[in-house]
Amino acid sequence: MFKKLSLLLVALTALVWLNPVSAQHTAYTIIANPGENASKKIRLNWHTKLGSGDSQITYTKKSDKNWKKAIRALAEQELCTVFDTIYSKKPNGENFHEDARFMRNTIALRGLEEDTEYQYKVSSEKNATGSAYPNENSEIHYFKTAPRANKWNMGIISDMHVYAPLPNRQKVAMEMIRQLEKQHKKPFDMMLHVGDMSAWGDSYSFWPTLYADSTFSKYVWAGVNGNHDNMTRLNGQSNQFFRNVNNNPINGYAGQIGVSYHFMYGDALFVMLNNEAMKSDEELAKAQDWTRKVIKNNPAKYIIVMEHYQWFMGNDGKSSQYNRWKALFDECGVDLAISGNNHIYVSTNALYADQETDGTKGTVYIQTLSSDNERGRALEEQLYNKDLIKFRWSEGSKTVGALIMNANKKRLMLTLYDRNGNAIDQVLVKAKATKLR
Ligand SMILES: [Fe+2]
Repeated sequence: MFKKLSLLLVALTALVWLNPVSAQHTAYTIIANPGENASKKIRLNWHTKLGSGDSQITYTKKSDKNWKKAIRALAEQELCTVFDTIYSKKPNGENFHEDARFMRNTIALRGLEEDTEYQYKVSSEKNATGSAYPNENSEIHYFKTAPRANKWNMGIISDMHVYAPLPNRQKVAMEMIRQLEKQHKKPFDMMLHVGDMSAWGDSYSFWPTLYADSTFSKYVWAGVNGNHDNMTRLNGQSNQFFRNVNNNPINGYAGQIGVSYHFMYGDALFVMLNNEAMKSDEELAKAQDWTRKVIKNNPAKYIIVMEHYQWFMGNDGKSSQYNRWKALFDECGVDLAISGNNHIYVSTNALYADQETDGTKGTVYIQTLSSDNERGRALEEQLYNKDLIKFRWSEGSKTVGALIMNANKKRLMLTLYDRNGNAIDQVLVKAKATKLR
């Protein structure tokens, strides 16, 4: 009996892995992203099969247990073909051209209450029961709006490179988030990621498999486009993959709408950059002009800028993107700069004009490590920036770690944890006296 049950479970698991889209609910790749003001607006993305008709959302406060005050709304729909016929790999390692044409459904929920938990269900017109609305069997997802004030917290993770033939990458990264929750002793307000969620962003099946994890059905996620998310197996490049598996605020600049974006979370401004569009000097100037304007037009207590590529080379400490951004961060009073990509953790105290300060001025630089137990990188002797870099950390190729960021009116506090819940490093970002309140 036990053997039969095990076989059945193996068969079911194989079915989900082989064909994650058809084996899941009628709506899949469901994610909640912050609106431009995350206290009042949340933006949702999900995909449905071609021919499944209109798609709807039903949502209400989590406290409305019987869904009596639920609101129904119709999603905007567009055909998404950017992932179709792409050369990829199945979980068994077999090469294939993936059949991935589907409807992309998006909706921006407005007029939400701040600091409030909501529950929602999405479904298509022609779902399993033939009902026109999300039914009792539709899976319930949750999101929380941002508090208006300055007390909030987030988990931060990056570089998990999910890849169908190596499911452990996703597994250990998601376990790392659960370890963060355990250390935090309660759920987060939201999750941040610093890119490279997928090994090849163009391989569609990797996304619904990742988003099926419960961390995606209970949190708002905001992230940046990593070079791997932007990549095809055959070295093609496109920001369309990242764009179509999110519904980010459409406040970016030309060519980067829905990819580069900004949002207010409480009294913090987050500026999210796509480093794949900042390779030439001209592209960098465009991104920096936009960043300057965004910071000028959105007065905030904390200014946080994120991009995927590393500030410093973690192995030897050499300056990397730090050289391209430090002048702007000094000029604009950026409090915290978060990057990833290098797979080695690096932190600094506040830096201004290439010098460490007492924290009343300057930018704290944080570089997240990898979280997949596979693509980590070993530390070497630090030859550069000994006066700027406070701490580096890696577990070598099998690195897993992530951070918690806690905000209050006096400071942001970032703590790095390893997979066992040990706090490895802690960095403070002081609120600056001269900022607009
Ligand atoms: Fe990476």
